[in-house]
Amino acid sequence: MKAIRLAFLLAIVAMVLAPLAAFAADGAAVYKAKCASCHGPDGKGETTIGKSMKLRSLASADVQKITDADLTKVISDGKGKMPAYKGKLSADEIKALVAYIRTLK
Ligand code: HEC
Repeated sequence: MKAIRLAFLLAIVAMVLAPLAAFAADGAAVYKAKCASCHGPDGKGETTIGKSMKLRSLASADVQKITDADLTKVISDGKGKMPAYKGKLSADEIKALVAYIRTLK
């Protein structure tokens, strides 16, 4: 009986918490909407624009060794032809993008 009550309680907790997770910025969705046009859906930059800009693959060791702080800076302030996203994306969204870039390697 106790186990059933515990399972029931956990189910309620999960139901309460699930909508909260939806508020966290979704790095994959933001990436697809704002970044994939240049960097490609997989971050490799093998798009027409990406090739013309000679983009490095975001999955490459060279890019992956850049610190979170520096990736945040590139996305916020831009770099060369890379547009600045400060003001266009929230700090949470940029943080989610950095986390997303880490999943590309
Ligand atoms: C208009 C095309 C374009 C878009 C859109 C774009 N980027 Fe870039 N991105 C670039 C270019 C070009 C560079 C290389 C800048 C340089 O090194 O001069 C770059 C560099 C970067 C780098 C550093 C990697 C390196 O090779 O040094 C990161 C990280 C990055 N972009 C992430 C993003 C994210 C995240 C988004 C979406 C919010 C995004 N980019 C959108 C063109 C773009």
